[in-house]
Amino acid sequence: MRHLTQSLTIVFALLPAAQALAEATPIDVRKTNGCGCCLSWMNHLKENGFAPTGQNMFGGLLLRFKLDNGVPQRMVSCHTALVDGYVIEGHVPATDIHRLLSELPDAVGLAVPGMPYGSPGMGPEDERDAYDVFLIQKDGSTEVYSSYPAG
Ligand code: CU
Ligand code: CU
Repeated sequence: MRHLTQSLTIVFALLPAAQALAEATPIDVRKTNGCGCCLSWMNHLKENGFAPTGQNMFGGLLLRFKLDNGVPQRMVSCHTALVDGYVIEGHVPATDIHRLLSELPDAVGLAVPGMPYGSPGMGPEDERDAYDVFLIQKDGSTEVYSSYPAG
């Protein structure tokens, strides 16, 4: 009986990891070569149910790529990701991307402009600066999607 309990404990401990692997959502990340915070953000995604693949682009081409995909100039950050027809610009938390993919708004996607300190991939959460995640509409307007207070 003790054995069984132990085995079950192990099974349940492994379950979330197995589930995350099974359901990991592919996400295509465009970034510049040597962008460390981009890799840190991709790790954050990996730990939260996504299967990111990275592709390096030259800075000018990456900026063109952002604008061509509907990211307004004022929303620009370091990397641009594509997931299920949406654009994700910058250090957007995985939680917000999951919410986007469950709500499926008729929009371009999400952005965290600049690179706020303490956003995912940008340093410790408990020391973060306050920042907003924006929903980019198809007409280029934006609205606050979620807000993260200072840590
Ligand atoms: Cu960055
Ligand atoms: Cu980045």
